[in-house]
Amino acid sequence: MVMSNKKATLSFDDKTIELPMHAGTVGPDVIDIRKLYAEGGVFTYDPGFTSTAACESTITYIDGDKGELLHRGYPIDQLAEKSHYLEVCYLLLYGELPSAAQLEDFETRVTRHTMLHEQMMNFFRGFRRDAHPMAVMVGVVGAMSAFYHDSTDINDAWQREVASIRLIAKMPTIAAWAYKYSVGQPFVYPRNDLDYASNFLRMCFAVPCEEYVVNPILSRAMDRIFTLHADHEQNASTSTVRLASSSGANPFACIAAGIACLWGPAHGGANQACLEMLKEIGTVDRIPEFIARAKDKDDPFRLMGFGHRVYKNFDPRATVMKQSADEVLDLLGVEDNPLLQVAKELERIALQDSYFAEKKLFPNVDFYSGIILEAMGFPTSMFTPIFAVSRTVGWVSQWKEMIVDPVQKIGRPRQLYSGATARDYVEVENR
Ligand code: CMC
Repeated sequence: MVMSNKKATLSFDDKTIELPMHAGTVGPDVIDIRKLYAEGGVFTYDPGFTSTAACESTITYIDGDKGELLHRGYPIDQLAEKSHYLEVCYLLLYGELPSAAQLEDFETRVTRHTMLHEQMMNFFRGFRRDAHPMAVMVGVVGAMSAFYHDSTDINDAWQREVASIRLIAKMPTIAAWAYKYSVGQPFVYPRNDLDYASNFLRMCFAVPCEEYVVNPILSRAMDRIFTLHADHEQNASTSTVRLASSSGANPFACIAAGIACLWGPAHGGANQACLEMLKEIGTVDRIPEFIARAKDKDDPFRLMGFGHRVYKNFDPRATVMKQSADEVLDLLGVEDNPLLQVAKELERIALQDSYFAEKKLFPNVDFYSGIILEAMGFPTSMFTPIFAVSRTVGWVSQWKEMIVDPVQKIGRPRQLYSGATARDYVEVENR
């Protein structure tokens, strides 16, 4: 953080307060309001943190107006095109692209941590078969703190490193096993000779009675889905991880909190909600009815997969995801799938509609990822768990950054209280 020469002046009642300002390397300056309450006796009011920087970070930068997403300075489209998920994980975690030797070492460390403690299988078996896999993931990831005691001390850098690798490595196994359990098939153990994405596909779709050969185009598409969701600066689930961690909670508990937050339909649950919406629309001729509902102020319905808190332009991840969707659909020969026809037509109509143009609502990454995952054979309930697998590295990188940040303190927002003022208790017979 660079202290800027600029200062902000705030006047209210008979007070004038001078507030310092800081500049980042790129993006808006920030007004430092930490002393505001002490000097002015007032709080700021910003529900949803629309204008509040809650931390300093060097990991990811988004320019929502330009539709730009950078990880450690590298544009997401270049990473999606030229890199792959584990290399992006290294970049997010350690700040630089790895040398060949560093990458090999990192891949080996992740690959050798993919198995789960055998007793963790009992956790899966304790759930109902029809449990949502996100419910299973929240439970199993939280339970990791009961199994991996040697990596829960957040003050030990080595333990933090081991916890990070364990989380990135085991999350695909946990998600795949949640799926296997839901369909009543045996759990498939990870295989060390496969890359991260292929291993995940095999753990989801292989059965013991026949050989499963991973299609390289599907594996590449899976890897891209992981890469495109890897981090997205201070989104709701990442902020949840940071807030949980600010109390000193162990990493597995904090990531379980992030998974719980991701589940909601306004965040990671949007890919499932989007596919369900496409199914509900059903046929192209019903699209105008749903567009009209999305525009109706009295109807809570929203077009899922459209709009974003930060992007007021095309989501750059959506552009790459759209390309991937075309490749996968071409390979699988499912272009005439009615669901996909509805998706394409909905996109076309919404992009021409003045309501969506004026409010700068564009298709987001989840609009296309759901289509790819559906074509690959994943049920909609697995869409958000796959997002959770991908985002784990983002949560972990932001968590590691926060632990060593000297200005970090327990997260404790203030409030504008509008409830009853102090009053005396009334005995029940007098109420
Ligand atoms: N369909 C119809 N209208 C919408 C939509 C939509 N999808 N999104 C926003 N609007 C309208 C909204 O009604 C509001 O109108 P008005 O100004 O007249 O009140 C205006 O656009 C601004 O919306 P907002 O709710 O104030 O914006 P926000 O920044 O709080 O919400 C959002 C962002 C992503 C929650 C919202 O766009 C939304 O609910 N989208 C659908 C869910 C979705 O696809 N979420 C995935 C986000 S990308 C993946 C991720 O990062 O998790």
